[in-house]
Amino acid sequence: MTYDATHWQAVCQQLAQQHAGDDGAHDLAHLQRVWQAARLLLDSYPQADALVVMAACYLHDLVNLPKNHPQRHLASRQAAALACRELAAAGFPADKLAALGHAIEAHSFSAAITPQTLEAQIVQDADRLDALGAVGLARLFYTAGKMDSQLAHPDDPQALQRPLDDRRYALDHITVKLATLPATMQTAAGRSLGEQRLAWLMQFRATFLAEWGTPPQP
Ligand SMILES: [Fe+2]
Repeated sequence: MTYDATHWQAVCQQLAQQHAGDDGAHDLAHLQRVWQAARLLLDSYPQADALVVMAACYLHDLVNLPKNHPQRHLASRQAAALACRELAAAGFPADKLAALGHAIEAHSFSAAITPQTLEAQIVQDADRLDALGAVGLARLFYTAGKMDSQLAHPDDPQALQRPLDDRRYALDHITVKLATLPATMQTAAGRSLGEQRLAWLMQFRATFLAEWGTPPQP
């Protein structure tokens, strides 16, 4: 029996829900936003397989290890294997499983796997888009709070006289990682959206720095 996309979306949402932890930066809402961003990208690339993209968006973080976990670079491969196993058992089209697995394992920064298909490129871009803009900013400070980071260096928030350290200072993460994301986007539509969202983030950073000020001189 062949099921439609609505059926598979419900199956994927349920699977994602079963494996969801308590990380507010990687919860079901993150997966929904990634699929929403991917749909925007699919408008520009109608030749991509939307079913593969949808399933990968919902299942890409099925195994999500903390940033400091020694096996973090393997998490996306484990997520791909688990997603393919679960969806194969649910009767997902067998000829799409390899593309799904690749899109999941290639999404991750730490896995360092180059996306080889348009579907994998779209999923990687959509996931990175959720790290930018207003929601990306909220996720940044949420995650920094969980890691007990400071908002910014008290005297040198721009890191003019010190090395950047985004483990200790949340604001540094914008320069260390987020500002580099648009250039890593795999699709032109992803890059364009990424640049817009980064521009907003940089405006926030400028306002933040103005309010943070400089320490009073003795
Ligand atoms: Fe993600």
